[in-house]
Amino acid sequence: SWTIASIVEEQVARIREQVGDGRAICGLSGGVDSAVAAALVQRAIGDRLTCVFVDHGLLRAGERGQVERDFVAATGVNLVTVDAADRFLAALDGVTDPEQKRKIIGREFIRVFEQAERDLQADSRYDFLVQGTLYPDVVESGGGTGAANIKSHHNVGGLPEDLTFELVEPLRELFKDEVRRVGIELGLPETIVHRQPFPGPGLGIRIIGAVTAGRLEILRAADAIAREELTAAGLDRDIWQCPVVLLADVHSVGVQGDFRTYGHPVVLRPVSSEDAMTADWTRLPYDVLERISTRITNEVPDVNRVVLDVTSKPPGTIEWE
Ligand code: XMP
Repeated sequence: SWTIASIVEEQVARIREQVGDGRAICGLSGGVDSAVAAALVQRAIGDRLTCVFVDHGLLRAGERGQVERDFVAATGVNLVTVDAADRFLAALDGVTDPEQKRKIIGREFIRVFEQAERDLQADSRYDFLVQGTLYPDVVESGGGTGAANIKSHHNVGGLPEDLTFELVEPLRELFKDEVRRVGIELGLPETIVHRQPFPGPGLGIRIIGAVTAGRLEILRAADAIAREELTAAGLDRDIWQCPVVLLADVHSVGVQGDFRTYGHPVVLRPVSSEDAMTADWTRLPYDVLERISTRITNEVPDVNRVVLDVTSKPPGTIEWE
């Protein structure tokens, strides 16, 4: 539309003016905001932008490919992927406390990102850091209400607080729906533009218990099935998100064919929300729940039970950790 096209035009002009003939770095998280911010800056300064994508090994099935293939194909952006899965797993070894997990993931993320930045600076000088800060983020960080302190949130891709950079924040005046429209205008894939929220600490906070490579593999498989079935049922735009949580330290008895099983439960946590501050549990159709349950218990080894979380927020939070 006219307004969206003019927002793009205006932001591109502003970015060009700010960055001049300098170079910029942008951390990509796989989410909408960093992708749209990067695409705008790419449109403005081309290959003087380098994007950094840290794969912390806590992503869902297919997410790395969405960034490496689909985003790059749509924008032609220079991308550096850092494969840091082993490092994150080692740092998380044996850790079960949710806040500990969040702190470790946040800390490691900054370290890996800073190393990637130093590697880039060794070749060319980068003076600018692109961030996908939205208007509500600007308002929220100015307000500083208590709600933000219930969990130590961090936005992967929105780091670090390194003052040697000048920030480029082309989404600062936009709301989420405008950001999505800008993304469409810039030709980004639907899968990125309409992606549901996914926490920075990723699957690390959806495994109740210590995070291991094997547990991640189980959760990734169960999550992929739930997402596939929700998409197939046309429910993606009706639900805010549907975390799948692996109760890794819990076992329950089951039966498969003639055999007793002793596996883990996974929890489906479908929620409806406007802004994630409050949420209601989504009344998913029984036939969709049945397909998800049947497929997960048949197809994912070690999962023999699927349970449904029917708690609103408050008192429950959306994520279990
Ligand atoms: P809670 O669990 O607090 O989640 O009800 C509210 C929303 O925030 C997402 N979430 C995060 N997003 N970094 C993020 O970028 C985080 O550390 C984080 N923790 C939770 C969650 O998925 C939900 O949409």
